[in-house]
Amino acid sequence: MIKAKLTFLSTICFFVLNSCDSKSKTLSVNERVSALLKQMTLEEKIGQMNQYSSFWDVTGPAPKEGSAAIQFDHLKKGYVGSMLNVHGVENVLKLQQIAVEETRLGIPLIFGFDVIHGFKTISPIPLAEAASWDLEAIETSAKNAAKEAAAAGINWTFAPMVDISRDARWGRVMEGAGEDPYLGSKIAHARVKGFQGDDLSNPSTIAACAKHFAGYGFIESGKEYNAVDVGTQTLHNVIMPPFKATVDAGVRTFMNSFSQLNGVPATGSKYLQRDLLKRDWNFDGFVVSDWGSIEEMVEHGYAENAKEAAQLAVEAGSDMDMQSLAYVEHLAGLVKSGVVDEKHIDDAAGRILRVKFELGLFDDPYKYCDYTRETATIGNTSLQDASLDIAKKSIVLLKNKNQLLPLKKEGLNIALIGDLADDKTSPLGNWILAAEKNSAVSVLEGLKSYPGNNVEYSVGTTLNIGPLQFAKELNINTTDKSGFAAALNLAKTSDVVVMVLGEHGFQSGEGRSRTNLGLPGLQQELLEAVYNVNKNIVLVLNNGRPLVLNWANEHIPAIVEAWQLGSQSGNAIAQVVYGDYNPSGKLPMTFPRSVGQVPIYYNYKSTGRPNLPSPGEVFWTHYQDEENTPLYPFGYGLSYTTFEYQNLKIESQTDTTLDVSVEVTNSGNFEGKEVVQLYVKDHFARPAQAVRNLKGFKLINLQPGATKTVQFKLTEKELGFYNSNGDFIFQPGEFSVFIGGDSTADLSLKFKL
Ligand code: GLC
Repeated sequence: MIKAKLTFLSTICFFVLNSCDSKSKTLSVNERVSALLKQMTLEEKIGQMNQYSSFWDVTGPAPKEGSAAIQFDHLKKGYVGSMLNVHGVENVLKLQQIAVEETRLGIPLIFGFDVIHGFKTISPIPLAEAASWDLEAIETSAKNAAKEAAAAGINWTFAPMVDISRDARWGRVMEGAGEDPYLGSKIAHARVKGFQGDDLSNPSTIAACAKHFAGYGFIESGKEYNAVDVGTQTLHNVIMPPFKATVDAGVRTFMNSFSQLNGVPATGSKYLQRDLLKRDWNFDGFVVSDWGSIEEMVEHGYAENAKEAAQLAVEAGSDMDMQSLAYVEHLAGLVKSGVVDEKHIDDAAGRILRVKFELGLFDDPYKYCDYTRETATIGNTSLQDASLDIAKKSIVLLKNKNQLLPLKKEGLNIALIGDLADDKTSPLGNWILAAEKNSAVSVLEGLKSYPGNNVEYSVGTTLNIGPLQFAKELNINTTDKSGFAAALNLAKTSDVVVMVLGEHGFQSGEGRSRTNLGLPGLQQELLEAVYNVNKNIVLVLNNGRPLVLNWANEHIPAIVEAWQLGSQSGNAIAQVVYGDYNPSGKLPMTFPRSVGQVPIYYNYKSTGRPNLPSPGEVFWTHYQDEENTPLYPFGYGLSYTTFEYQNLKIESQTDTTLDVSVEVTNSGNFEGKEVVQLYVKDHFARPAQAVRNLKGFKLINLQPGATKTVQFKLTEKELGFYNSNGDFIFQPGEFSVFIGGDSTADLSLKFKL
């Protein structure tokens, strides 16, 4: 590690603050925080609350003019507490040395980055990982992402995103865990544990960040950044549980949402941040605003100007200002003029310092800057192997008529068609800031790694004409069919056609809302044209959200949901297509029959007229032009084998608990995994509850012919719910449990408590 040449003054300050004498070692983190706060000027405390994105290439000369020069000056004065979008030991070290060695108190920076699903080794998008329902694999995935990012100098990730959403029009569903709060809470907990481990001072762990607090997944009409208006039942029973799960997992930071919740921008919401998060949930970490969202309260029509926005945000409990400069420009004046109480500054700065102490940054500010560890960790084989493992587990088999899959490994002429089949960037998904473009294993490479078949590729149709940039609109091809003829000729002369169709990785994610959920561009036309010359089609989907797939479901014999699976995408898909991995994924989000059904989800509320009174009648809950049911329901996924459920029974019960068991048999010819799901219906409750809610699941593996008895325990925690005041209550009464392989499970039994 580069020996830091501390200047004389900062040497004195730094060691006075952090001397390792026996006394300071026994000081608690809180005592060290308060001791440090007493040393700090108002401007230095506000500096901790100020976060900048990388504003210059640190390997180049220091900025001399413009906003970069202002930000550089703030950095040297100790008026910056955190940086984001700086990574790599060389860059992090350079900035940390300025903070530690050139400022009055030498307070280290905390470096944040969007390590959403991997750093350079990319795992499946979070929605795909959720489809694995494998909490252990999900935790390992987050742990590996933390290890790789930490080796590059990062000590804080802006993840997990735990926004529940039922709206596939919203591009950011790719970033979450789907529509269900129970599954979402379990996954949120696993991800926080993965990122943070059990010792945050370990240089291979990073602070996690629960985002976006709160309600972002319920933006009106699925249109990005739109307003959110929800009632207390949705707020407390759907939106909040995954956030509470992250607090229970010990998450150290939160990020508030761009969106306004019931008229109040989350960034300025005292209810969310001070009352619920910091008071009721006893959260003692810190809240960072989303990019520029403090000043955006002016655009929301909530604050008159940036100065008022700064006041509203800090009083509401937004501790750190990501890149809006509202705090560093206005807070000192607001405090000095008596408008803002300095206690808010002490609270916010103290929270930020606490996390820095917990990370061990005061004991060794360069602990994340180890060139040897960086070289040994980034992209190594064990990370790639783990990425492949969870990628396989994230694949969902949607259809497999006449067992077309798995394909034979020898003697087949396979036509591989589709722009995405040969794409090595798209499978990385949307949040790939640090990943190398063209670094994923493509489907073409994956299939060709099995030498026994003859795989010929034809693009069929270009999906995206370009440019391909994280923050720019794509240009989807809707006219150029020049590739059709070659693809059809190849399909005609092949035994089987594998078509990889769907969305480019940049077609979902932030700023990527869609009103049409069909296959983009000319892909649907290509699919139907190929079908006319060869019906033996395996459709492999690459997408970041539920799509509308009615035609494919009606005509195509085999459909594989392969999301965007990350660095090992092609190998994972090939192993499933050839049967080396029996698909076990289950949908974490409902797939609609039409976008007109959206938002559509399994745990809907009943109505006063849920059923058709008599044929032809109209006065009941339905559409004239669409079914009520989805194309594929929540929790759905096939296997190469089959599973039978029988003997659901009550093992025991008390006034408030119930133990049930069910026998599950692998009735097919393949070893396979099954996600045994338990749903609960509370028949009569006030307020009324959903027709059913997921309240348990277990992942089991069975050999052909084997049977396993699976047990579940239900307690008040599973049977209760939040009432309109946000209080968790349990109402005795009549319940039903449903157990099966998806949310339409009909094996059930009733019980009373
Ligand atoms: C973005 C996103 C947020 C991300 C942040 C930093 O706009 O909303 O999820 O963590 O900016 O990149």
